[in-house]
Amino acid sequence: MTILPGLLDTEAIRKDFPILDRTVHDGKKIVYLDSAATSQKPRQVLDALNDYYERHNANVHRGVYTIAEEATALYEGARDKVAAFINAPSRDEVIFTKNASESLNLVANMLGWADEPYRVDHDTEIVITEMEHHSNIVPWQLLSQRTGAKLKWFGLTDDGRLDLSDIDEIITEKTKVVSFVLVSNIMGTVNPVEAIVRRAQEVGALVVIDASQAAPHMVLDVQALQADFVAFTGHKMCAPTGIGVLWGRQELLEDLPPFLGGGEMIETVSMHSSTYAPAPHKFEAGTPPIAQAVGLGAAVDYLSAIGMENIARHEHAITEYAVRRLKEVPDLRLIGPTTAEDRGATISFTLGDIHPHDVGQVLDEQGIAVRVGHHCARPVCLRYGIPATTRASFYLYSTPGEVDALVEGLEHVRNFFG
Ligand code: ALA
Repeated sequence: MTILPGLLDTEAIRKDFPILDRTVHDGKKIVYLDSAATSQKPRQVLDALNDYYERHNANVHRGVYTIAEEATALYEGARDKVAAFINAPSRDEVIFTKNASESLNLVANMLGWADEPYRVDHDTEIVITEMEHHSNIVPWQLLSQRTGAKLKWFGLTDDGRLDLSDIDEIITEKTKVVSFVLVSNIMGTVNPVEAIVRRAQEVGALVVIDASQAAPHMVLDVQALQADFVAFTGHKMCAPTGIGVLWGRQELLEDLPPFLGGGEMIETVSMHSSTYAPAPHKFEAGTPPIAQAVGLGAAVDYLSAIGMENIARHEHAITEYAVRRLKEVPDLRLIGPTTAEDRGATISFTLGDIHPHDVGQVLDEQGIAVRVGHHCARPVCLRYGIPATTRASFYLYSTPGEVDALVEGLEHVRNFFG
């Protein structure tokens, strides 16, 4: 067994994740290396979901009866937990959405409908990067098409980092908003937030950070980031699917218009017009994802009890080991940073000219689950002249033994394809 400094007690942690005991293909133990797509869920989160549905299920903010008040307390309690988890100055800055895509679409639409000084229109510019997940590209393309604002982006260096050499030409006095990913979902690159935020602040542009691949893996402190909005999703951080978060600075949430209209986001409604509830409710029209939020609260409790610093240390050790071992595989090309520094626990690669879909299929036959394709970050594949990658991603339950299994699996793939 490989022992690395900084590892968590994965033997104990893995007991919390029932699915990790599963076998596939005639008794092969599952090696789950696709946590960047979605993490597995610990029993503590599954129990919280069951408990909610078995004992407290009711609609929130509406009922005067006991279980409706309990449901409201659980839902709003989850908001408190998330606010503390990301060091938000106020719980009212935490908006629950369906996922990070919805959070990013919400910001883009707020800015499209906003009055001055936030309004994005034909005379302004939007800045993103070539490293974004499609969820942080398409909403801005839509906004650009709708308003006539110019869409600009930072390119990539050959080693998978943002090329900021032209930062003063990309972010200009015309820039209204800069939206970028904190940790790349395809290459694992951790981006230099400070340099981008500094330049955005110089020109008075708003900063939006997609923290979907950061929130599960490191301490996420929205005040330290100095952004205006931070988006992430629950299902990559041990929570159920169907729950995302948009954190936004309070004064912005007060000033900006809602996107979706409906029940619970209003103060008063007449047939002629309506007034809106204060944030966060202004941005949560309709019955929210109640059980999912409760599950996210339980996930936050679970991760916090282990400690985000400890999780980050564990993943760094696993990533360092994985980078080292993968470099031993002949014909393997890492796409993105080739060291473990400033990178998260997500590693993309190609293997000779074997198509990643074939790599994924042969690995699956050995019980190894990886993601293959363009990972909803197709511009990155275009930039590096490849159709797709194979991606292995790790989490708090990943072990060095699973890295070894991947490396052996890749040897098998090479033999299989001659
Ligand atoms: N965004 C998820 C991924 O990168 C689905 O795999």
